[in-house]
Amino acid sequence: MRVGLVGAGGVAQRHARVLTGFEDVELLGVTDVAPQAAEALAGTYGGRAFGDVAELLAAGPDAVYVCVPPFAHGPAEEAVIAAGVPMFVEKPVAVDLETAERIAGLVERRGLRTGVGHHWRYLHVVEEARRLLADRPVRMVNGAWLDKVPPVAWWARRDRSGGPVVEQAAHVLDLVRLLAGEVTEVTAYGDGTPPPVDGADIDSVTAATLRFASGAVGTLAAACVLTWKHRAGLEILADGLALSLAEDGLTIRDADGERHLPADPDAARVAVDRAFVDAVRGAGDDVRVPYAEALRTQRLALAVAESARTGRPVALPTGPAARLTAAVADADAGVSVDA
Ligand SMILES: NC(=O)c1ccc[n+]([C@@H]2O[C@H](COP(=O)([O-])OP(=O)(O)OC[C@H]3O[C@@H](n4cnc5c(N)ncnc54)[C@H](O)[C@@H]3O)[C@@H](O)[C@H]2O)c1
Repeated sequence: MRVGLVGAGGVAQRHARVLTGFEDVELLGVTDVAPQAAEALAGTYGGRAFGDVAELLAAGPDAVYVCVPPFAHGPAEEAVIAAGVPMFVEKPVAVDLETAERIAGLVERRGLRTGVGHHWRYLHVVEEARRLLADRPVRMVNGAWLDKVPPVAWWARRDRSGGPVVEQAAHVLDLVRLLAGEVTEVTAYGDGTPPPVDGADIDSVTAATLRFASGAVGTLAAACVLTWKHRAGLEILADGLALSLAEDGLTIRDADGERHLPADPDAARVAVDRAFVDAVRGAGDDVRVPYAEALRTQRLALAVAESARTGRPVALPTGPAARLTAAVADADAGVSVDA
């Protein structure tokens, strides 16, 4: 299988390393708006540096990975979809909802095979958490991503990254949805004070409350004021059960006491690529987050960001009618629109 990459930055290099480690995958090439970045990646992992997406597509890839920063999503996906090529997109799938809804609509119309880089879903401890929660309704979820500002220039700009909730905490929100179901309403506050980084205009800290369709409630905390990654994960409470889930393991406490199951985040990062490759080759069907599923996580992350920005609650669409349609105002409830 010949794979092309759009974007040659940090995450593209990881995918190139993982993919070229598979015996059945060859790197066809890479394109980047910074040609030297594409050349450097091709020099390390093989394949060609292409001038643009059209040139890459003309070389006939079997699949394309779109690994650009949040603000740059849209045109590459449209070209890949028009060419009918299976597509893996890094999270977040866009900086806004309009782009994500548009791409999701095009993917659906074309019936295209897609995958999105929410690799946490491939942690075996996530499967274990689902098993433990199968017969016990979740009462409360507390998610957190407490970290530093990552060393990429676009990250601290709201119009470039979408902010910490959209860019980073989206991994946690994706698991919140998986384990506790859909969120119907969020209320969030940001501190309105950017982290001490040049050009920053994002909130340093955000606190949100979540109301789930099931009746459960939850919180999300996001921070980028540290100089280290402090904690990323979630706590889940059900009757007589407390789960503490992070990328490196799951702690379970119930009537039998406490036990810890370690997890391997690198294995999950390999598994997400393996599952996509297998699906494209027709050798498997374990893509856990296709584009339409990532769109729901994107809606939730943007609802939190919107509420923090406006200071008002934001309602989320739920049920089948919510598929591929923008959120609508619940005027009776007096909540704001997330469209
Ligand atoms: N799933 C994960 O674990 C994970 C890990 C790291 C990053 N990411 C995500 O991947 C995305 C990229 O992050 P990164 O760390 O690689 O960023 P980066 O800044 O290191 O790399 C982005 C690259 O994209 C290029 N680029 C920008 N616009 C482009 C365009 N229109 N066409 C082609 N190339 C373009 C840039 O020149 C740069 O080389 C982010 O959304 C980030 O959240 C996901």
